[in-house]
Amino acid sequence: MSTTTMQTTPSVATPPSGPSAVDDAVDYRRVLGHVPTSVAVVTANARSGPVGMTVGSFTSVSLDPPLVAFFVDRSSRTWPRLYEASHFGVNILGHGHSALCRAFSRRSEDRFLDVEWSVSDRGVPLLDEAIVTLECTRFKVDLIGDHYQVVGRVESMELRATDPPLIFLRGGFVDMGGSQRGEADA
Ligand SMILES: Cc1cc2nc3c(=O)[nH]c(=O)nc-3n(C[C@H](O)[C@H](O)[C@H](O)COP(=O)(O)O)c2cc1C
Repeated sequence: MSTTTMQTTPSVATPPSGPSAVDDAVDYRRVLGHVPTSVAVVTANARSGPVGMTVGSFTSVSLDPPLVAFFVDRSSRTWPRLYEASHFGVNILGHGHSALCRAFSRRSEDRFLDVEWSVSDRGVPLLDEAIVTLECTRFKVDLIGDHYQVVGRVESMELRATDPPLIFLRGGFVDMGGSQRGEADA
């Protein structure tokens, strides 16, 4: 009945265990890797040109005003360049876009190489293949633990395709297969 399949080999599921203290980063990552996330590429126009990075931490925050957020490791080399721009783009990847996810998470000087993108009227680089794009003004940045919480005010949004989103789970990608079972009341 389920049409959900793995596109890539996920790490072996952690067997159920009792509660434990968080004293091992690998374990912490593996347990939290059981929580599925969307995959977005955050983009901006830095002084050196377009920059972007893959994030799984994108979330909507507020309707009035329209705010969204994501979290960036404070050791990120891309973040200082993203921060140069007052606006940033959020590009939600579709289920067939695992290559884009990887392109924007690998260590590379030019992650936009071989990627189709265009510049919006606000000067924000946006990925042509994204299923949803948002253009945001930077609203607030806080250091929380070892990550920055970056909040943006959504200035414009575009639903570009109704393909299922790319979902990241246990180190792999889940193929939504175009199905969406049931509807939430939200
Ligand atoms: C699916 C996925 C989700 C990710 N989510 C985040 C995230 O939310 N925050 C973050 O700082 N890095 C995240 N990363 C890691 C970054 O994409 C990337 O590895 C990091 O930007 C390293 O390059 P940098 O030093 O140039 O930032 C994620 C990577 C992948 C593959």
